[in-house]
Amino acid sequence: MSKRIVLLLLVALIALPMAFAGGQEEDGEIVIGANIYTFADNFMNGVMKPELESYAAERGVTIEIVDSEGQQAKLNDQIDVFITKGVDVLAINLVDPASARSVIEKAQSAGIPLVLFNKEATEAGVMDLYDQVWYVGTDSAESGIIQGEMMVSDWQANPDWDRNGDGAVQYVLLKGEPGHPDAEARTEYSVKAFDDAGIPTEELALEADPNWSTQHGADKMAAWLTSSFGDDIELVIANNDGMAFGAITSLKGADSDIPIYGVDALDQALTHIADGEMNGTVLNDGVNQARATVDLAVNAAMGMAPTEGTDWVLQSDGSKAVRVPYVAVTPENYQDFR
Ligand code: GAL
Ligand code: CA
Repeated sequence: MSKRIVLLLLVALIALPMAFAGGQEEDGEIVIGANIYTFADNFMNGVMKPELESYAAERGVTIEIVDSEGQQAKLNDQIDVFITKGVDVLAINLVDPASARSVIEKAQSAGIPLVLFNKEATEAGVMDLYDQVWYVGTDSAESGIIQGEMMVSDWQANPDWDRNGDGAVQYVLLKGEPGHPDAEARTEYSVKAFDDAGIPTEELALEADPNWSTQHGADKMAAWLTSSFGDDIELVIANNDGMAFGAITSLKGADSDIPIYGVDALDQALTHIADGEMNGTVLNDGVNQARATVDLAVNAAMGMAPTEGTDWVLQSDGSKAVRVPYVAVTPENYQDFR
């Protein structure tokens, strides 16, 4: 073989794997630097984290997931460490949805693509700062609308739920993290469903918890039941299942059968529905949100368009978001979600 041909062959041998590697590290392996805002969160730790790990393995990429322990400052440091380590892409679950700007700026100045997931940035226009940032989550309002419609139709079907017979719904609400788009939208739209149906509502109490926790649900429900309005409560609206589980423990402790609804459709919620201890929940499809997060991250790391070769669709409203749909889970259909 002439020297020229040998050289051409050599170039081809080197160039071929590089063409496939795209923006990957020299070792040829894609590394995703990821976090969960706190491992203490039932849904994030129980559904999103295991699926991020198993789906990344399925896709043949490495994902490192750290616990931000509910502290945005800690997350900022973790991002610095990921950047120093040279990860190929970041998959970030903001602790504070109002703090997206600093995260986006870090990724941008390091030239690393960024997929935000589960907590949508609340600062207007912030997603336009960087062409390599996207969001994977849901349409927050949809969960409130579905939960609200479920509650309205059950309320209409059960006249005895109006314990004081005044035609209005006296409810208590477990909100979740104040300022979190899911917490805000669920609070607004679940109650709006009653307004839309012409059913008056009266809010007896509302409590927020940045960690969406079971302990909070248990403590608040117990306190409400023994408060001056304890006997007036006709409905418990929980913006997630984790808080509902705590409330159910307190309701059972007080021998109360006040109807209660959640969001997420965790396995334990399906069991509570089967046992008649919970009236409904809304599937928050963490499995598909995790998969979309990994798919977008891998594409971005390879320098491809974020949804190329996938079934995910970016919203056409400029939000640069993939939104996975919610589904109503009732005593009639909960078996389908086991
Ligand atoms: C919501 C979920 C909550 C909580 C929260 C964390 O989508 O319904 O249970 O996990 O995300 O950001
Ligand atoms: Ca009433």
